[in-house]
Amino acid sequence: MCGIFGYVTNKEEKLGPILIEAAQRLTYRGYDSVGAATLRDGTIDLRKDVGKVEAVSEKYRFAEMTGSRGITQLRWATFGEPSQVNSQPHIDSDGDMVGAHNGNVVNNVELREQFIAEGMTVRSQNDGETCVHAVERYINRGYQFIDAIRLAYGDLQGDYAFVIGRANDDKLYAFKKGSGMVVGLGEGFTCVSSDLPSILPLTRTIIRPQDGEIVTLWADRVEVRSVKDGRLIERAPEQVSESMDAVQKGGYPHFMLKEIHEQPQVARELLHLLDGSPEVEQLVDRMKRARHLYFIACGTSYHAALAGSVYFAQLAGRPAIPVLAPQFIPQYAPAVGHEDVGLFISQSGETKDVLNALEAAEKRGMECYGLANVIGSTLTKATSFCLPLCCGYEISVPATKTFTNQVITFLYLAYRMAGQDTRELDHIPELMEQTMDATGAQVESIAKDINSWEDMYCLGYGATYPIALEGALKLKEITYAHCEGMLSTEFKHGPLSAVSRDFPIIFVAGPKDVPLIISGINEVKVRGARTIVIAEDDPRLHANADDVIVLPKSDAQISALLGVLPLQMLSYHMSIMRGFDPDFPRNLSKTLTVD
Ligand code: M6R
Repeated sequence: MCGIFGYVTNKEEKLGPILIEAAQRLTYRGYDSVGAATLRDGTIDLRKDVGKVEAVSEKYRFAEMTGSRGITQLRWATFGEPSQVNSQPHIDSDGDMVGAHNGNVVNNVELREQFIAEGMTVRSQNDGETCVHAVERYINRGYQFIDAIRLAYGDLQGDYAFVIGRANDDKLYAFKKGSGMVVGLGEGFTCVSSDLPSILPLTRTIIRPQDGEIVTLWADRVEVRSVKDGRLIERAPEQVSESMDAVQKGGYPHFMLKEIHEQPQVARELLHLLDGSPEVEQLVDRMKRARHLYFIACGTSYHAALAGSVYFAQLAGRPAIPVLAPQFIPQYAPAVGHEDVGLFISQSGETKDVLNALEAAEKRGMECYGLANVIGSTLTKATSFCLPLCCGYEISVPATKTFTNQVITFLYLAYRMAGQDTRELDHIPELMEQTMDATGAQVESIAKDINSWEDMYCLGYGATYPIALEGALKLKEITYAHCEGMLSTEFKHGPLSAVSRDFPIIFVAGPKDVPLIISGINEVKVRGARTIVIAEDDPRLHANADDVIVLPKSDAQISALLGVLPLQMLSYHMSIMRGFDPDFPRNLSKTLTVD
């Protein structure tokens, strides 16, 4: 996820070191390119490239950059490959404005075409440049700067935060829609950033602009105006007292909890991004023509692949083979060829097991595409192209937000394969919010009840089967208890003998599978099990199970996705109750680069 930082001071000074340090504080968000611009005496000094902050800033001697205003940006590629020209900040056609954004402008492609037709110089594919030209368009038409920004805001669709400055000026301007942005007020300077941690070492006096507000930053003051009518908005600065660690966790005690709660927002951003992605079209076309389709991954990403194969069959009538990456090599690689398409799924894009399978597939001439969170990772470079998961950094070892965005991507692709209107998916983020609000307290109380058990099962069927596997993995990973995920109908074929009094069994039930799940519930209940069901409200479930965790009404595929949220929270609470750190479970690593 990109990060921006802007700084305004009351005298011309060496801004390079301030910008480098700010960029370093933004690195935790993840990035592939770095840039910096300083503005002074009517000139703009812009330096940028692909690479780490340390390497790029040294190569281009950022430390020497001087001015009274500066902007730095870390880019996490979505529109346009990681390259120098696509790196940010960007200048306008004649080079007297410079700006940078984080987030995604989803009508980037259409706007770029309009700007080119209007005679502007568009140098990159990047949507940050689109933000600059969006302002330039109205300056060219004779509008004052603030009015040009107001009109540009109306043209730019998506979730983003943007900062821009003019060479002949003493200010910076910033505005946001959907993404985070914080303004800082210090002694002799003001600053603006994508997040609080990056400005805290400079000042603890802040203002939090809202969507639809434009902030003008001078060295000694800021002004907030409404995008709608340009009127001045009174906003008293606040003092931040939390520690840096608390701020980095966004006020949550753990990254895992923060990342669980980020899911609706990253889902929203992903759906916007998929709508504007030309690669989706290409991938769908290729998958439609493929002889066989393989979804290849490990761990949590494999569970998303499994969910994807259920969605493809249920919605598009298209079989897809989900494969654990190491098993792809002996079981499928000998049989695949150039008529087949493989989709390799990985949060990190560095999992060795996945890269080994990719190599084996490529040797056989299979067409290989990726789905990864870390842009610039090996997987993103080694595949024909890789769809981004758009989650920003996932710091906690247990994957949460990357799993739900993987599943949403598969659902989106299945809709496209089926020719179904993907706008039906737009309410997923809201349903996720409702699920978390409605189930939070009940899940915590169930966690207390079953926490003494070292063995349990999590069962699902159809679209909820991958969710049951994922819930079980999460429970194992951070509680260190044994939890087996299984197809509900398989339980009677052996594991049933494990059931004793109060033995916890969790069922994830799809709306159409209630009768089948009720059989499963009773099978174990008569033998003493404690039965917990995650499902949409249904009186038949209340009549049969000990606990029903109620999901909001949706459909079979979305309901399955929602079912993972209470399971993530259950694992989290049990991990905390056991005194473990869910972010960094013992023996595990976030990125597994070994065989
Ligand atoms: O980065 P990847 O998605 O390729 O990682 C695969 C697994 O190692 C990973 O999903 C692991 O299972 C998670 N930590 C589980 O939460």
